[in-house]
Amino acid sequence: MPSTSSLTLFFLAFFAIFSLVASAPTPSPRDVFSPPVLYPGKGTVWRVGERHNVTWDLSHAPVNITNHIGMIVLVKNHIMIDLDTPLAQDFDIRTASHEITVPKVKPGKYQILVFGDSGNVGQEFTIVE
Ligand SMILES: *[C@@H]1O[C@H](CO)[C@@H](O)[C@H](O)[C@H]1NC(C)=O
Ligand SMILES: *[C@@H]1O[C@H](CO)[C@@H](O)[C@H](O)[C@H]1NC(C)=O
Repeated sequence: MPSTSSLTLFFLAFFAIFSLVASAPTPSPRDVFSPPVLYPGKGTVWRVGERHNVTWDLSHAPVNITNHIGMIVLVKNHIMIDLDTPLAQDFDIRTASHEITVPKVKPGKYQILVFGDSGNVGQEFTIVE
């Protein structure tokens, strides 16, 4: 089991890579897919412990996605939340939605990040107790 700080570093590094990809000009390698998050969006309120389907837009997904394996993580203030595990992982990104349980986090504003080959953060939404 890696220590909390090495996990944080891992996530920070991951996020830095994501930021680079996100800020690069549009042409990206073919078949690379960064799913845009549709839900939760602006105005969404989730309660800790509830189950919700995170959804993302597949309409611009390449025919042959290089990496089918998806991962969903929670982001606060542009930093991935240091949970023991992502909200979801090892699911098929081509399904366009995946059910997650709202983790026990401090009430506040959060974003969802969905990874395919690289990630896209959704709009800010609210988690309440
Ligand atoms: C999530 O979507 C699945 C498939 O459509 C559905 O069976 C399930 O009830 C949904 N879960 C929630 C929490 O809405
Ligand atoms: C997708 O993959 C299939 C099977 O490998 C291949 O036949 C097809 O040409 C590919 N399509 C594109 C658009 O790359």
